[in-house]
Amino acid sequence: MFELKNVNLIYDLGKEDVTHALRNINFKYDKKGLLGVIGPSGSGKSSVLYLMSGLKTATSGQIFYKNYELGKMTSDERAKLRHKEFGFIFQRGYLLEYLSVLDNVLVPLNSNSEEYIKRALVLLEKLGISNLKDKKPYQLSGGQRQRVTIARALINNPEVVFADEPTAALDHKSAFDVMKVFSEYAREKLVIVVTHDKSILGEKTDIINIWDGVLNTLNTNRESELEKGLVDRV
Ligand SMILES: Nc1ncnc2c1ncn2[C@@H]1O[C@H](COP(=O)(O)OP(=O)(O)OP(=O)(O)O)[C@@H](O)[C@H]1O
Ligand SMILES: [Mg+2]
Repeated sequence: MFELKNVNLIYDLGKEDVTHALRNINFKYDKKGLLGVIGPSGSGKSSVLYLMSGLKTATSGQIFYKNYELGKMTSDERAKLRHKEFGFIFQRGYLLEYLSVLDNVLVPLNSNSEEYIKRALVLLEKLGISNLKDKKPYQLSGGQRQRVTIARALINNPEVVFADEPTAALDHKSAFDVMKVFSEYAREKLVIVVTHDKSILGEKTDIINIWDGVLNTLNTNRESELEKGLVDRV
């Protein structure tokens, strides 16, 4: 589903103080399920998500999603692709402060039909915050806000969910509930989870390890005859 070839990302190119955030990243990933991305602060985890989702374009190299080469698309085409195929949970949870929790979850759909409202309420329930559906974001704690952004990311039934530290603001139990929601979702789709805390990923999760902008390893821990050959080790 994804392939990155010799990908580099340099921030502030042309200025005095450039940051080479990602260096010669190569990997291919063709499975659904949970995929973890780990590495120290500043190592380039968020940057990888931005590139894979087409939110940023690489300084050099190629990124493929399905049959699309992201760098060859216009920003408008990339935006459409994102809307159709991807869901995002950003490291800082952005919500519309004047909308209720429920309406925030419904934003990507441009519709509040009964069916969608039901789906939103099921998600909020699974995330343990259905009692907050009529509250405004400013009335919520950081962890509650984060869970609203998770429901919003899933409401569209996206092919790929990009989750950047989705459990960072959560206590152990809430983090566990969130990971359960992701695992369930990952039976049908791909969920990419950036985390500092490897223990939330579970033993069988495939993990990309990033260190100082370099992809060190792609550990494929899920063994199945079917999946063999789908993942290239780097
Ligand atoms: N917009 C930006 N402009 C300039 N440099 C940036 C920008 N965003 C990130 N960087 C730099 O790129 C490098 C990688 O940053 P990135 O946000 O991808 O790291 P991260 O692994 O997600 O870190 P964290 O765990 O703290 O979220 C860092 O050195 C960071 O300072
Ligand atoms: Mg980050």
